[in-house]
Amino acid sequence: MRIGRGQGFGKLILFGEHAVVYGHGAIAFGLERGAHAVVSRGVVDGGGLRLRLVRSAAEDVTDPRLLGAFEGMAALFGLAGESLVAEVVLDVPASAGLGSSAALAVSLSRALADLAGMTAEESEGLVHQAVALSEGIFHGAASGIDQRAAMGGGLFSFRRLDGGGVEVASLELARDLKLVVCQAAAGASTSELVAGVAAFRAREPERVNALMLEAADISGLAVEALACGDVATLGQLMDLNHEVLRSLGVSTAALDRACALAREAGAVGAKLTGAGGGGCVVALVENDAGGVLDAWKTSGLDCFEVVLAQNSGE
Ligand code: PMV
Repeated sequence: MRIGRGQGFGKLILFGEHAVVYGHGAIAFGLERGAHAVVSRGVVDGGGLRLRLVRSAAEDVTDPRLLGAFEGMAALFGLAGESLVAEVVLDVPASAGLGSSAALAVSLSRALADLAGMTAEESEGLVHQAVALSEGIFHGAASGIDQRAAMGGGLFSFRRLDGGGVEVASLELARDLKLVVCQAAAGASTSELVAGVAAFRAREPERVNALMLEAADISGLAVEALACGDVATLGQLMDLNHEVLRSLGVSTAALDRACALAREAGAVGAKLTGAGGGGCVVALVENDAGGVLDAWKTSGLDCFEVVLAQNSGE
């Protein structure tokens, strides 16, 4: 029996979330952890599709939006109307700012392409379409930064262009960067947070546009600091970016507290990552991540270390 397999990467946004939706530059990278999907033709009660998600345990997906996205993706790969069984193992927390939905969509669409007998080169364009379809359902006006990270990994800058295109550039790192990530609180809906910022901008356009420009400047300076390995400046820029996100109304007491804990434990900077409203914090350390990890663990937070290696740009 033919089995289709596919992988998608989770992601960390280092700078520029939310501003990226309005055409400003942002910086992100694909995490090694993410999603692995396996799809086969199988017998499903009543026909149709069966999707199982495996996190700490396996569960059948019943969310009609996710099943609808699966159906739409299957149709794109010429598998409409077939009985398909898919299992996706997710090793990033859902809705926590680490790009779980894009990782899931990329892994599932790559597995569908593999099942349909397509090579990675042949299916690349269709995988983009499939992931855009799924991200449109879950994220509304998504910038596409999650999708880019989920497909490729690596450190990159990203900007949406007028007229629909995107500008993506791999970034050089002058030295390895040690980052630590914790989940400060349960995740929130990205589309609701993006809609909340849009509503704030409609009420107070000058204030919000100025905050977006500040975020854009921070991202620009961060590209330079990454290129020369200036960890102290990168840390300060992360703190400043967190303040911008607070002013946009997407931080929470739990996220602010996790950032403060990290700084007290020796991080050179810390910020929320992703849409906010809950979810994850990323902090940068000079050398040893142990102090920050201990501080977070003592406060009961799940956390992990990520080394962004000098050669991880593509
Ligand atoms: O919450 P996440 O991981 O989906 O990140 C969303 C990033 C935003 O900039 C808030 C939205 C987007 O589409 O870029």
